[in-house]
Amino acid sequence: MLLPSLILCCISVIIKGSNICTSQGVTTCRQCLAVHPTCAWCFHEEYGKGGSGASRCDLKQNLIDGGCSPTAVQFPSSTLSIQKDAPLSNKASGTDDVTQIRPQKLHITLRPGDSKRFTVSVKQVEDYPVDLYYLMDLSFSMKDDLARLRTLGNELAVTMGRTTSNLQMGFGAFVDKTASPYMYTYPPEAVENPCFGIHKTCQAQFGFKHVLSLTERVARFTEEVEKQRVSRNRDAPEGGFDAIMQAVVCKDRIGWRPDASHLLVFTTDAKTHIALDGRIAGIVQPNDGKCHLDNENVYNKSNMLDYPSMALMTEKMSENNINLIFAVTNYVVPLYQKIRSKVELELLGVPEELNLSFNATCLNGEVIPGLKSCSGLKIGDTVSFNVEAQLRSCPKEKSHTFTIKPRGFKDSLEVTVDFACGCDCESNAIADSVLCSNGNGTYECGVCQCHEGRLGPKCECSVEDYNPSDDVNCIPKPGNSICSGRGECLCGQCSCHANDFGQVWGKYCECDDFNCLRFKGALCSDHGKCSCGLCQCEAGWKGETCNCTTRTDTCMSSLGLLCSGRGNCQCGVCQCTQPGAYGDTCDKCPTCPDSCTIKKQCVECQHFKRGQYTEDNSCSIICRDEIKVVTELAFHDKNAVNCSYKDENDCVEHFQYYEDESGKSILYVVKEPECPQGPDILVVLLAVAGAILLLGIVGLLIWKLLVTIHDRREFARFQEERAKAKWDTANNPLYKGATSTFTNVAYRGT
Ligand SMILES: *[C@@H]1O[C@H](CO)[C@@H](O)[C@H](O)[C@H]1NC(C)=O
Ligand SMILES: *[C@@H]1O[C@H](CO)[C@@H](O)[C@H](O)[C@H]1NC(C)=O
Ligand SMILES: *[C@@H]1O[C@H](CO)[C@@H](O)[C@H](O)[C@H]1NC(C)=O
Ligand SMILES: *[C@@H]1O[C@H](CO)[C@@H](O)[C@H](O)[C@H]1NC(C)=O
Ligand SMILES: *[C@@H]1O[C@H](CO)[C@@H](O)[C@H](O)[C@H]1NC(C)=O
Ligand SMILES: *[C@@H]1O[C@H](CO)[C@@H](O)[C@H](O)[C@H]1NC(C)=O
Repeated sequence: MLLPSLILCCISVIIKGSNICTSQGVTTCRQCLAVHPTCAWCFHEEYGKGGSGASRCDLKQNLIDGGCSPTAVQFPSSTLSIQKDAPLSNKASGTDDVTQIRPQKLHITLRPGDSKRFTVSVKQVEDYPVDLYYLMDLSFSMKDDLARLRTLGNELAVTMGRTTSNLQMGFGAFVDKTASPYMYTYPPEAVENPCFGIHKTCQAQFGFKHVLSLTERVARFTEEVEKQRVSRNRDAPEGGFDAIMQAVVCKDRIGWRPDASHLLVFTTDAKTHIALDGRIAGIVQPNDGKCHLDNENVYNKSNMLDYPSMALMTEKMSENNINLIFAVTNYVVPLYQKIRSKVELELLGVPEELNLSFNATCLNGEVIPGLKSCSGLKIGDTVSFNVEAQLRSCPKEKSHTFTIKPRGFKDSLEVTVDFACGCDCESNAIADSVLCSNGNGTYECGVCQCHEGRLGPKCECSVEDYNPSDDVNCIPKPGNSICSGRGECLCGQCSCHANDFGQVWGKYCECDDFNCLRFKGALCSDHGKCSCGLCQCEAGWKGETCNCTTRTDTCMSSLGLLCSGRGNCQCGVCQCTQPGAYGDTCDKCPTCPDSCTIKKQCVECQHFKRGQYTEDNSCSIICRDEIKVVTELAFHDKNAVNCSYKDENDCVEHFQYYEDESGKSILYVVKEPECPQGPDILVVLLAVAGAILLLGIVGLLIWKLLVTIHDRREFARFQEERAKAKWDTANNPLYKGATSTFTNVAYRGT
């Protein structure tokens, strides 16, 4: 227990003005660069002399401020340059140079601990040449499928024709090694006709036979497939792997084009023999991964070499850019489509010290973290990958080149990484320099690297010249132990012991990089460096144990308010302060008033110095908002909320509630509330009188209007009738003459 408290006592002194560069006790330029990407080294001989004791390993600016000439500062920085960046091709036909990946060449310089990012775009070009080689299992069990397989050729050709007009197809067949126990050898007739035993005829057994080289004449393919007859072997598994190996490595015989997409379709309906299965036929020589087709196009080392291993097959396929498609007869076409529609990045030769991480941006711009493949693509779709390359430690070599390529594509991205681990000044090192006590050390980058047995900044002290009086220099305070009990005092300097847990350093060996606070067992929560008892957190983390993220996006509610305005964001987690609020962003709160209602009280107390919070003196505790008085609300952010409320004087107060990214809440308060004017009696009277008058006039007008309309109608009817009365009398059936004639019956004319 004594030790940690002792360490803690001294830290406060040492850490003042220290940073991650100065606090690690490094003694060489190379070590300094490895501490952190921001650290620089001053190799000026006189630097730090004259009692200032400044560390040669520090932030660059501190070194220059401390008097180091900028030319003596070693500060390699990480860089990235794109060296070849031809645009992606649109169509393959007509152009010789097809580009399916962009960029094509990168150069990165990386310091240990540093990282660089770049984006790789991949596009499967339309009409890209495709070579399809069809490997057919001709064992007896395929008899039922043969008819289907024969028609398959045509189907494949048609389907492929839709995606590319530049297609070549080829064909080969396999059964199994022609040796017992894979083969029928008795009765002797069975060698020529393995179906002899079942009273049928079929073709003699063979290992692998290449039938048709890749050709543009797809009809030939159909023709050859139709010619095939089954054979028969004895055991259930077949020798398909032999066939795959030959089809992959016999590039010239098969006719794989160098710039085409290579598909190898493998059909079978049974299990397959794997490496070491050859033993049972006495075949022990491992497969050599070479082409052994004879003049008849038959694999003639079938009975000498064992079946190839998966690893060998994978290696050879990758070398020759061949996509293998395992297919059960019926499913060939859908499987083929699946392969075509997937782009996966393949990494070749990435050094162990380099950590590559990927994010894929597939269709519709969605970023999928940690993925280096995209599926469900159509030909012509472009996908991109964000890549981050981080150098975790320093490899032995100075530079390394590796390749990123989409699986099955010819195109690739070549990345050269220079490891900026060493300092330029190292090349000017002087062995046995006079500056190091007459040749007792090597002078390198401004400091002496002492030979064994010598110590001191100038190697001036020999371990043998022990002098007890020197020990005083190794004790921080009387009563403390020499070199904090973790080192030896040599020539008046502490030489700290190496420790299994990590480094020990400091003038009195009081510092180390393993006695720091832990969180869940992880030193500095794995988000910082332990430096002399204190965690130096990485960017984005804070707290004693660096377990507290400075992110606030996780606290952002869907409305754009930090913790829905009902709590504080602490270490990326909402602490809901509003009673009744819960949920990740305090978004759930059935009993809560909305943010306008909450903030209303703060406006009241902070701005107007009244209201409930002012009365119970809780304003400064509850309300931490910044008040900005404005004459009119303006647009500040789309997430700002406009609020208004009626205060005790019946005035309407408008304010706007806004939280910036860091979670600081700002209330824009309109200076003058909108108050209703007191009612004016005269205006009211006049208004009422006016209204009555107006109503009366309107009533009269309406009455007058109605009467006029009525009169008009009556008059019109009268006019009409008068017109009728003028009609021609002769035609009127109702007309009676005004005169009547009567006959006097008594009249006897005289
Ligand atoms: C296999 O065929 C090649 C090419 O025709 C020939 O050189 C080789 O000798 C043959 N090997 C055997 C074992 O028949
Ligand atoms: C590489 O980086 C990723 C992401 O930064 C990390 O999750 C992973 O652990 C690292 N791998 C190694 C081996 O350090
Ligand atoms: C990948 O996405 C994650 C989370 O979105 C992000 O933290 C990381 O930096 C991204 N990496 C790269 C290489 O873009
Ligand atoms: C080391 O230093 C001592 C004393 O300064 C000197 O006498 C001796 O010659 C030096 N040793 C070598 C190998 O130069
Ligand atoms: C961080 O660690 C401290 C203890 O060291 C703990 O009290 C706190 O809850 C931790 N914070 C988080 C966000 O995990
Ligand atoms: C708030 O009011 C201002 C001024 O009228 C306006 O520009 C802004 O768009 C409003 N904000 C919201 C979220 O309605």
